[in-house]
Amino acid sequence: MDTIVSGMRPTGRLHLGHFQGALKNWLRLQERFQCYFFVADWHALTTDYATPQGILQSSHEIVLDWLSVGLDPERCVIFCQSQIKEHAELHLLLSMIVPVAWLERNPTYKEQIKELTGKDLSTYGFLGYPVLQAADIIMYKANRVPVGVDQAPHVELTREIVRRFNQVYRPIFPEPEVLLTEIQKLPGTDGRKMSKSYGNAVFLSDDPKEVDRKLSRMVTDPARVKRNDPGEPEKCPAFQFHRVYSTADEMAEVSRGCRTAAIGCLDCKKVMIKHVLEELAPMRERRAQFEDRPGHVEEILRQGNRRAQEVAAVTMNEVRGALGL
Ligand code: TRP
Ligand code: SF4
Repeated sequence: MDTIVSGMRPTGRLHLGHFQGALKNWLRLQERFQCYFFVADWHALTTDYATPQGILQSSHEIVLDWLSVGLDPERCVIFCQSQIKEHAELHLLLSMIVPVAWLERNPTYKEQIKELTGKDLSTYGFLGYPVLQAADIIMYKANRVPVGVDQAPHVELTREIVRRFNQVYRPIFPEPEVLLTEIQKLPGTDGRKMSKSYGNAVFLSDDPKEVDRKLSRMVTDPARVKRNDPGEPEKCPAFQFHRVYSTADEMAEVSRGCRTAAIGCLDCKKVMIKHVLEELAPMRERRAQFEDRPGHVEEILRQGNRRAQEVAAVTMNEVRGALGL
């Protein structure tokens, strides 16, 4: 059976964009593969080293979100990166064989240096972050890594590192393949990309009223100023939700209603809001069950950490052997 590894940084509560863009895919993968899903808490430090205070809380929240959507600790290994110290050791050993030029030419690195101007990214840790990511992936001998396009260069780099390691020492690691997650584009309520920092997100943990309120106020085709103005679904961010959530018949019907001004925006949105609420309802139930049992999330993490650690220990014995250490 193929092995899958993927991680997320603990940056706060997860929203519908995370669900459509990654978690839905993780749910499918856990049915068919041996999956390792982990909280990349050390990665959070690569860009935010000065504010580590929230990481522990966010790590708990993200695991609760994962469990709420249906990640099943019986099927997949859910763990926390910083609890498996072998990741640090493998990162160190890999760093010896990685040319600095490979890291400097990484497109995601160059882009973030340019875009995240408010952050101090001129650190050794930030430059080497893909090496840490490589260690995360190959520790479990992953064959496939589900990520979005922005992370694809990191998996490519992992492949290069694997080739180099296998050549310099001994062939231990498989070259992991990128499993590109086709992104279902879900804009935030203001029409921009859904993001916590834009304040336009619908969170998985929002209650139904909150979800309804946020989506009812979501921006629409700016041409529909008055109820009688016809609109164009192609120009409407709210219609993107129909694309993801509504049936073909429903989409056809609201499109017609929009273009002829036969329906108002609120009538139109009601159709997709219903679907969103239906999707969130079982998540809310599961979340409540976990919240009813204090310490349950921690216990699941402890067990996942133990399972991950066992595998990591075996891999590191092999690695140390290959290096004669
Ligand atoms: N770098 C990824 C991100 O920022 C998170 C991550 C860390 C990851 N290690 C990983 C993803 C290993 C996949 C595999 O989103
Ligand atoms: Fe958008 Fe629907 Fe309003 Fe048309 S009717 S502008 S598709 S919300």
